[in-house]
Amino acid sequence: NEMDACIMEGKTLKAGAIAGVQHIKNPVSLARKVMEDSEHVLLMGEGAVQFAKEMKMAMEPDSYFFVEQRFNQLKQAKDSNTIILDHTAPVPDEKKFGTVGAVALDVHGNIAAATSTGGMTNKRWGRVGDSPVIGAGTYANNATCGISCTGHGEFFLRAVVAYDISCLME
Ligand code: GLY
Repeated sequence: NEMDACIMEGKTLKAGAIAGVQHIKNPVSLARKVMEDSEHVLLMGEGAVQFAKEMKMAMEPDSYFFVEQRFNQLKQAKDSNTIILDHTAPVPDEKKFGTVGAVALDVHGNIAAATSTGGMTNKRWGRVGDSPVIGAGTYANNATCGISCTGHGEFFLRAVVAYDISCLME
């Protein structure tokens, strides 16, 4: 399981993101640590995991992330040589669990946006989607709006969708 996550605050335009991480229990909390406790915006892979250890973030073994339904979905995607969205069939109970997005607005007009995802099922090793890319899958600006995208990330990356929506509002 490789996960991506991002958080951005609209008041300051500060942002933090992590990409392609394994074993991080709460990826969006690590993204927030990158925003608040590092000089950087986006950390990836082993470097992000090392940062998580330094920040004493909760870690979990591979077994924690294993979900039988997801494993079956992966086998189906491999058999049909396709890459599919995490909330694409087979989902027997029709619950569409997948990428999680949140946008919040406080009483002072401050907006924040965050996105956390396991990405696409049967994605290539090393593939990073739109979620951790500021302006593609996640964006927040008090002057306009907060945005968290879900769907096939490559389209959001190509069109810089989140920032484009903010610009259109501006
Ligand atoms: N939108 C999630 C992804 O493509 O990774």
